[in-house]
Amino acid sequence: MALILGIESSCDETAVAVIDGAAATLAARIVAQRIASQDDEHRPYGGVVPEIAARAHAETLAPMVGAVLRDAGLRLDQIDAIAATAGPGLIGGVMVGLVTAKALAMAADKPLLAVNHLEGHALSARLAEPGLAFPYLLLLASGGHCQILEVRGLGQYRRLATTIDDALGEAFDKTAKLLGLGFPGGPAVERLAREGDARAVPLPRPLMGSAEPHFSFAGLKSAVMRARDAGLHRPADIAASFQQAAIDCVIDRTRRAMAAAGPVNALVVAGGVAANAALRGALTALAAEAGLPLVAPPPKLCTDNAAMIGWAGAERFAAGLTDPLDALARPRWPL
Ligand code: KG4
Ligand code: ZN
Repeated sequence: MALILGIESSCDETAVAVIDGAAATLAARIVAQRIASQDDEHRPYGGVVPEIAARAHAETLAPMVGAVLRDAGLRLDQIDAIAATAGPGLIGGVMVGLVTAKALAMAADKPLLAVNHLEGHALSARLAEPGLAFPYLLLLASGGHCQILEVRGLGQYRRLATTIDDALGEAFDKTAKLLGLGFPGGPAVERLAREGDARAVPLPRPLMGSAEPHFSFAGLKSAVMRARDAGLHRPADIAASFQQAAIDCVIDRTRRAMAAAGPVNALVVAGGVAANAALRGALTALAAEAGLPLVAPPPKLCTDNAAMIGWAGAERFAAGLTDPLDALARPRWPL
């Protein structure tokens, strides 16, 4: 039994979880978890305001740690190690989470695990799918990142592709803003797209067919803006056409990366955009082409959460990879 307390505060979700790293099923692995979204605080500004986020984390986190321990029926001294996101992310929020974790680790005399948020997303598939073995090919698509990685083992990540401009989630969020769908944008675009015709609006597919498997979404966003300004199309048709263009790019780029990668056991998708059902459907078909399973964590484990941070901590703890109490909070931290 390895009980890990996980803390996530790198963007606009304050989250705490207790993970049992030795349990054999997803349900048993997540002993308790809570998550508080700050959507209402950021909505008036149409995006995440770092200072508001940091203050909200500072107010919410400490009581949430107490509540999650109570939910789990555990005292702090029964926890084996404390894990927190140490980056990359909005630095004020990261510091709130990491400093809280350090204080708990010091008070209880337990090891600290300074977790890379991207590693949390990368390993979330192994939390959800206990049978998933390394190596696997990972599409990591969130609000801040869009990458394809060959995950060879714990701490062994080979980056095959990244975005040369916007992240995929950012493209969804900007499209939502252009269409007046509010915040957060991705789920709103997905909902509206269901009512639209994906062939109605001709939109570009940047970098599709290029030899390197990189991504680009800035040109697609500009085309969405022109389509909206032209005033000829229903918002639902723009949303559906945008989503289809974005998915076509992702599938083409991922197919290219699969050809460049070594042998893998699965295609995995993680990060907030992996909650998108249309994307999951298209990736399932792509994986089947290559005779691979698609592993996609349940949507609630795709968007930011503390279970994935606790789980990444559990994997690191099991490998003896604990961190000193002066571990740094890092705004940038590539995998
Ligand atoms: O991983 P995440 O929760 O936070 C970051 O680490 O960035 O990802 C958030 C991103 C946002 O851009 C959000 O709009 C997008 O994931 N997202 C979605 C969906 N749910 C969340 N994008 C498309 N469809 C969705 N259903
Ligand atoms: Zn994230």
